Amino acid sequence: MGQYNQGIPQHVAIIMDGNGRWANKRKLPRIAGHREGMENVRRIAIAADNLNIKVLTLYSFSTENWKRPKDEVNFLMRLPVVFFNKFVPELVERNVVVKVTGFLKNLPTATLKALEDAEKQTSKNTGLILNFAFNYGGKAEIVNATRQIAKEVLENKLKPEDIDESVFSNHLLTNLKSLNDVDLLIRTSGEKRISNFLLWQLAYAELYFTDVYWPDFTEDDLSKAIIEYENRNRRFGAL
Ligand code: IPE
Ligand code: IPE
Ligand code: MG
Repeated sequence: MGQYNQGIPQHVAIIMDGNGRWANKRKLPRIAGHREGMENVRRIAIAADNLNIKVLTLYSFSTENWKRPKDEVNFLMRLPVVFFNKFVPELVERNVVVKVTGFLKNLPTATLKALEDAEKQTSKNTGLILNFAFNYGGKAEIVNATRQIAKEVLENKLKPEDIDESVFSNHLLTNLKSLNDVDLLIRTSGEKRISNFLLWQLAYAELYFTDVYWPDFTEDDLSKAIIEYENRNRRFGAL
C-alpha cells in the first residue's frame, strides 16, 4: 500500500532559479537578482524552520556555473561572505546548523573561509539543517565517490563484492554530512530539469515545479509545495 498524507517532508531541496530573469524584468543588472535571491534564502530558511522541515538543501552554485561571465561568477563567490556576515548571529539564535556540500578546494579563500566559519559557528546547534550546495555537481560527486571506492579496493580496505548502495552512498558528499535522500525537490522559474543537482539523492524525490522566480518565492509558495507533497502517493516501487 502506498503512503498517503505522509506529513511534512524531512528533506526539502530547492533549485533556486530565475534570479537573472527577475532582474531582467525590472531592467536591473543580473547581480541585483542574485542579491535579492540571497535575501530570500533568509526568508525561506526561517519559513522552513517554522514548518518543522529537518533539512533544507539549497542549490547555490553548480559546477557548471563557472561557465558564466567572470564578473557574475565573482559576485556569486562573494555572496556567502555577505550572507554569513549578515545572518550568522540570527542563524545561531534560531539554532540552525549550516552545512556545505560541494567541492570546496578550488574556491576563493574568502568564500571558503565564510562557508567554513559558518559551519563551525553553528556546529553545536540542533535545529534546522541549512545545507548549501555550493560548487556542487551530481556527476562530479558520483565520479569522486567512485574514485575513492576504487582507491579503497586497491588498498585492500574494501572488496568489490561488498560495494552496495549503502557503501556507495556513504562515499557521496551528502552522506559525509549524514544527510538523508531528498523527499521533495522544488525548482523555481519554470524550468523543468535537474541541472546536475543531487542525481543519486533525488532517486525517489517528489518533484515540484513553479513558474515563480526565486526572489519572488514566498513562505506561502513553500507551504503550497508542501501541501501538494502531502497529498502525493509515494510508492517506492511497491504497491
Ligand atoms: C539562479 O538564477 C542562481 C544561480 C544559478 C547561481 P539564475 O542566475 O540562473 O537566473 P536565470 O535562470 O538566468 O534567470
Ligand atoms: C541551476 O540553475 C543551478 C543553481 C540554481 C545554482 P542554472 O540556471 O545554472 O541551470 P540551467 O543552466 O538553466 O540548467
Ligand atoms: Mg538559471
